[in-house]
Amino acid sequence: MEFIDLKAQYRALQPRMDERIQSVLQSTRFIGGPEVKELETQLAAFVGRKHCISCANGTEALQLAFMAYGVEEGDAVFCPDMTFISSVEPAVMLGATPVFCDIDPDTYNLDPRSLEAHVEQVEREGKLRPRFVVAVDFLGNPADFEAISRICDAHGLVLIEDAAQATGASHQGKRCGSFGDVATTSFFPSKPLGCYGDGGAVFTDDDETASLLNSLKVHGKGPKGKYDNVRIGLNSRLDTLQAAVLLTKLEVLEDEIKVRQQVARRYAEALSGKLKVPFVKEGDTSAWAQYCVLAESPAQRQKVLDAMKAANVPSLIYYPHVLHKLDAFAPWENTPAPNAEQYADCNFGLPFSPYLTEEDQQKVIDVVLKAL
Ligand SMILES: Cc1ncc(COP(=O)(O)O)c(C=O)c1O
Repeated sequence: MEFIDLKAQYRALQPRMDERIQSVLQSTRFIGGPEVKELETQLAAFVGRKHCISCANGTEALQLAFMAYGVEEGDAVFCPDMTFISSVEPAVMLGATPVFCDIDPDTYNLDPRSLEAHVEQVEREGKLRPRFVVAVDFLGNPADFEAISRICDAHGLVLIEDAAQATGASHQGKRCGSFGDVATTSFFPSKPLGCYGDGGAVFTDDDETASLLNSLKVHGKGPKGKYDNVRIGLNSRLDTLQAAVLLTKLEVLEDEIKVRQQVARRYAEALSGKLKVPFVKEGDTSAWAQYCVLAESPAQRQKVLDAMKAANVPSLIYYPHVLHKLDAFAPWENTPAPNAEQYADCNFGLPFSPYLTEEDQQKVIDVVLKAL
């Protein structure tokens, strides 16, 4: 059994996938081929944004967003303490200070109350400029955008939606990637929409921001082309082969998201009451990038993980550390985040994909229940 079954997905899509890949190979337009623009147009329409700017990976999507909004030294960037390092790493590399907030114990997403308390504290201290909030759709589950947007509006903060794990998810009828001033995603292979290598994208409704992002991702190119460099930028292009892969997968994404709901329901029905299962708000749809449950203690988690290993059922702790305790963030003083720490200590992910057979789902459930 695979933790995320990309082999089965490839088998299901093979004729169409091979045809599209072959077409790029024949064209030899490996950079900037027509598939890239086609993907950007289709993804912008899918997500419900005016512009999609593809780029090399989800980390650089965030870097481009921070650069477009002029992040600088002395800026405070607020983000959840439980996420992947990329949510804040590019801003810190560009001189900003990370301020980690706690998560909601049910959704595992940025807790608006903790965010507001941290913003007010930074304002009171007066040492940093409160500037950015990164709201992550953690594990594919949409963040609380109403409450977070209200705080951003009240304090004049730029809101970045980090939808790396949430392509295909939706919040109150709107797709993830459409929230905040600007949104980003990742096409890392295991993501709900993943390519066969690295890839990412930025979404915006603002024409000027889109044009700035298009310049920043190609060495700060100017109106006269790529040798007319008008600012310092990056080399952060999505290559044509990855765009071809993504176009093929985009055709089945909606159907896959539906099947993901069925697998999640099955796990929830079998495991709730025995483990803490993920909570998705009424009106929201998770993309289920991962299906992570919480044991009641680290010891209970270890017992289940041992049983899964013995039965050849793969598992993953996603993620094992809160960000503020990582060595990389040691230079910055941050406050405890009890809910994020509890999550880090007790979470584990179950094998999950739209291609996980019912038989394998049952095997996972049986092994976990027996261990408990
Ligand atoms: C929440 C989050 N943000 C950003 C990223 C960065 O994406 P990439 O790995 O494509 O750079 C990831 C991917 O792992 C992620 O999970």
